[in-house]
Amino acid sequence: MSIDKVKNYISSVRRDFANKPLEDSMVKDNPIDQYALWFQEAISSEVLDPYAACLSTVDDSGQPSSRVVYIRDIINSSFVFYTNYNSKKGKDLLNNSKAAFNVFWGELERQIIIQGVVSKVNKEISDKYFNARPRRSKIGAWASSQSNVLKSRNELENNFIKFEEKFKGDEVPRPSNWGGFSLNPHKIEFWQGRPSRLHDRICYTKEGDLWRKNRLSP
Ligand SMILES: Cc1cc2nc3c(=O)[nH]c(=O)nc-3n(C[C@H](O)[C@H](O)[C@H](O)COP(=O)(O)O)c2cc1C
Repeated sequence: MSIDKVKNYISSVRRDFANKPLEDSMVKDNPIDQYALWFQEAISSEVLDPYAACLSTVDDSGQPSSRVVYIRDIINSSFVFYTNYNSKKGKDLLNNSKAAFNVFWGELERQIIIQGVVSKVNKEISDKYFNARPRRSKIGAWASSQSNVLKSRNELENNFIKFEEKFKGDEVPRPSNWGGFSLNPHKIEFWQGRPSRLHDRICYTKEGDLWRKNRLSP
């Protein structure tokens, strides 16, 4: 497809949203319970990877960047994902702990926006998750200096072979630079597409230990 055809397509295609309301009476008082309710519906609707979320971080020049990660756990109402602490996102987060997730479930015409502050999970939690991964994923964590420039694909594959040899016959330990981050939310918005762009937006904001709920204009 030429870029002109792409331009023509994205500027002309219009789609209205189905009418699946998010009434005030339907939403839970606690956004984590609301997330669980919607998550169940995402599974029932066979959303691909409902635990995938776009994670945004900000670097020390103020430049945001985004990438998809898997939310692998929810501990004390915080959302946990695993990564390389020396990666681009890892460095961003260790410097600026403010971050946001965006979960988009197109099949349900829904998005969830989660804002909060990130911290490292403890070593025991990271070990438990790492130890449950398939052996080849564990070796992959050693082989990849995530976000660094590679000379070639071969460099990565040779690294993999090197660590396969190194750990032959042994358990693969967790690299100290690999582990979990947990995002402790202070704002969570549930967005439901509605016809004529009159979408529903229910936004929870944390005040002390309590969550306040507001309806936002679409
Ligand atoms: C569906 C999907 C799931 C992903 N899950 C993770 C994940 O859980 N952890 C991770 O570090 N990268 C994950 N990635 C790769 C990241 O999007 C990203 O490429 C990588 O973490 C490097 O990001 P950075 O250079 O901005 O730090 C996933 C990518 C996709 C498309």
